[in-house]
Amino acid sequence: MKVLILGSGGREHALAWAVAGSGRVTEVVCAPGNGGIAQVARCVPVDLKDLDAMLRLVEAEQPGLTIVGPELPLSLGIVDALKARGLRVFGPTQKAAMLETSKGFAKRFLQRHNIPTANYAVCASLAEVEQAVDMFHAPLVVKADGLAAGKGVLICSSRNEAVEAAKGLFSGALLGEAERQIVLEEFLEGDEISFLCLSDGKHVAPLVPAQDHKRIGEGDTGPNTGGMGVYSTDELLDPAMQEWILRHIAEPTIQGMASEEIPFVGVLYCGLMMTARGPQVLEFNARFGDPETQAILLRLQSDLVEALEACVEGRLAESEMRWTPGASACVVASSAGYPGTYRTGFPITGLAAAAQVPGVEVFHAGSAQVNGHLLTAGGRVLAVSAVGDTLQQALDRAYQAMGEIQFEGMYYRRDIGHRALGPKKG
Ligand code: AMP
Ligand code: GLY
Repeated sequence: MKVLILGSGGREHALAWAVAGSGRVTEVVCAPGNGGIAQVARCVPVDLKDLDAMLRLVEAEQPGLTIVGPELPLSLGIVDALKARGLRVFGPTQKAAMLETSKGFAKRFLQRHNIPTANYAVCASLAEVEQAVDMFHAPLVVKADGLAAGKGVLICSSRNEAVEAAKGLFSGALLGEAERQIVLEEFLEGDEISFLCLSDGKHVAPLVPAQDHKRIGEGDTGPNTGGMGVYSTDELLDPAMQEWILRHIAEPTIQGMASEEIPFVGVLYCGLMMTARGPQVLEFNARFGDPETQAILLRLQSDLVEALEACVEGRLAESEMRWTPGASACVVASSAGYPGTYRTGFPITGLAAAAQVPGVEVFHAGSAQVNGHLLTAGGRVLAVSAVGDTLQQALDRAYQAMGEIQFEGMYYRRDIGHRALGPKKG
């Protein structure tokens, strides 16, 4: 079977790598892909903002399965359009993807189904914000309703600041586009966990848990990024807690969507805050996480394509995923200036030596092959990933590999996994 992957980042490189290793797959195509993905897949250009162009590509390629990486094509309705053409695709429909694409929809859904989440108010005007803000203690959180690439969440230290933030979102001054509604939310304290599950619309199959590091700076300082590194161990969630999350969060979400006749097929990414009163949903994503996927797929022993096909065919209950015990870690190397402005086009060296480190896979997040040279081509450039018997070993391997790699302005956090390795808080 031919498999087509839509996307161009580290997540898609990890997906392409896992798909290429499947016994069920004869060819992997990635659109548009990147310089690293080109080593495991045939890359073809496409604009991920252009629904018609993506449809033309899939119709021309006729893959046995299309996997949608990022949220943008989901929000444009790529899954609905491919299904209408009789083409098999892994991912939620435009309506089901609203769990990610509308925070207002997600919050109201969570409340309707009694799934734990922070107290909130959805506001459609500044007047509504000014009224609702009195129900919250500072700090409080102001969120854009729509997709904002990680820039739509503002943690405000006072009610005044929250009103100003809301003003910025409604006027379009903060995100470039005016929000129709915003979410005010109670500030939650705790450790964040990325809990991803596959779903066929009825059943849920958890992936191994992961913890992301969203801030650019060591010690979790500075602005939010797409994710600077991640690790996955079984210790992140003990079996009882995992069971609790499945029963009280993941399964009720999938069952709730089914009961509202918006079945969710794809990856349900639950962004959870582990608070003193238990896990609470911070956000949903309707897709694989980046860089979570890089660490998670390194631990997957069974066939990814078989599991994704089971989702598409509604038979996830019969499918079983097997995982490597131990740990994995992924450290992101970014361009100087990221997540602000940065320059690209610098040669990347040392990848061959990095790949020699046992247990290591170097996934490319933003690279390009130009005249036989591998150049930087994004804010996040590489996702240097490794498995190990322990988290320490996985991290040591990833950092050893990172030490072999160079490009101008290369930056990476040296403290990925510190929360798990360091002294316990509290
Ligand atoms: P989101 O896009 O909703 O996941 O928000 C991005 C990040 O903002 C999350 O990963 C959290 O670190 C932080 N965040 C979002 N909502 C809250 C909240 N209610 N309390 C504390 N932190 C939050
Ligand atoms: N790593 C966070 C995300 O994929 O949204």
